[in-house]
Amino acid sequence: MTTSEPLSPVSRTALSVARVRAYESSRPDPLFVDPYAAAFVAAAGLDLAPTGADSSFAKALLAHGILRTRFYDDRLRAAGADQVVLLAAGLDTRAYRLDWPDGTRVFELDLGPVLAFKEQVLAGLGAAPNAERTTLPADLLDPRWPERLVAAGFDPARRSAWLAEGLLVYLTAEEAAALLTAVAGLAAPGSRLLLEQGRDLSRTPDDPALAHLTGLWRGGLGPGTGEWLDGHGWTTEVTTLVRLGEAYGRPFQNPSATTAFIEAERRAAPGGAARP
Ligand SMILES: C[S@@+](CC[C@H](N)C(=O)[O-])C[C@H]1O[C@@H](n2cnc3c(N)ncnc32)[C@H](O)[C@@H]1O
Repeated sequence: MTTSEPLSPVSRTALSVARVRAYESSRPDPLFVDPYAAAFVAAAGLDLAPTGADSSFAKALLAHGILRTRFYDDRLRAAGADQVVLLAAGLDTRAYRLDWPDGTRVFELDLGPVLAFKEQVLAGLGAAPNAERTTLPADLLDPRWPERLVAAGFDPARRSAWLAEGLLVYLTAEEAAALLTAVAGLAAPGSRLLLEQGRDLSRTPDDPALAHLTGLWRGGLGPGTGEWLDGHGWTTEVTTLVRLGEAYGRPFQNPSATTAFIEAERRAAPGGAARP
C-alpha cells in the first residue's frame, strides 16, 4: 500500500471494484477499459482475481460491477451536464478515461485516505484527466459537504449529473435519505442522478468469501429507492441487471441477479423551483 494512512474497511471496497474493472479491462471483448484499475490493485498489494469466490452470487456481483460501470459511463455522458459529481468516487477514473466535452467539471468526493491513495497511484502513472477535476475529501455523513462542494466551484443553479455508485448499500436508510435530500438541494431541475436500486438484504446469499463486502452492507433505502426518489422530486427509470446484460450482449440467467439501476431526473416544481 503506497498511502501513509490505511484505508478503512468501507474504503477498501473501492479496491474490490477496481479489481472487477481490471478483470473486465483484460478481457478480449471488454465493455469498458479502465487502464488504471490494475495499478490500484497492485499498489494495494492485492492479487487481480476479481472476487476470490466462485458462487453464483459472486458471479452475479461480478456481472453487476461490470454492467453498472458501462451503464453509468453511457448515462453520465448522455446526461449532457457540464458539472458531474461522483459521490463516494473511490477509485473511479471516469474523469481520466471518458471523453468529456470541453469545460466539463468533475467533482470527486470520498473519504480522505482513499482519495490520497488514488492521487498517489495516478500521479505515479503520469495520468492526466480529460476534464477539470476537483477532489474533495469528505465524509458524506457530515452535513457540511454541500457547502464545501459549492465553495469548490459547484453551481447549484445549473444542471448537474450525479453518480452514487456502490454507496447507498453501505448506509442505513436514514443516512441514505439524508444524503439524497442533500443532493436534491443542489440539483437544479433537469439534473440527473444515477444509482443502484437497493437490495433486499434478507435475500442476500451467505458467501463467506464475500463477507468483507456483504458484512458492511446496511441496505440503504433497499428495493424502495426508486419509489423514495419518485416521492421526493425526481422522476425515475429503473433498468434491471438482466435487461442490461441483454442490452450489452452479456445475457445471463441467475436467480440471485435481482438487482437494478436507477436513472432519475430532477423535476421542476410548478413555481419553477425543484420540488422538495
Ligand atoms: C464500493 S466503493 C465504490 C467506489 C466508486 N463509487 C466506484 O464504484 O468505483 C464504496 C466507496 O464509498 C466510500 N464511502 C463509504 N462511506 C462513505 C462516507 N460516509 N463518506 C464518503 N465516502 C464514503 C468508500 O470510501 C468507498 O470508496
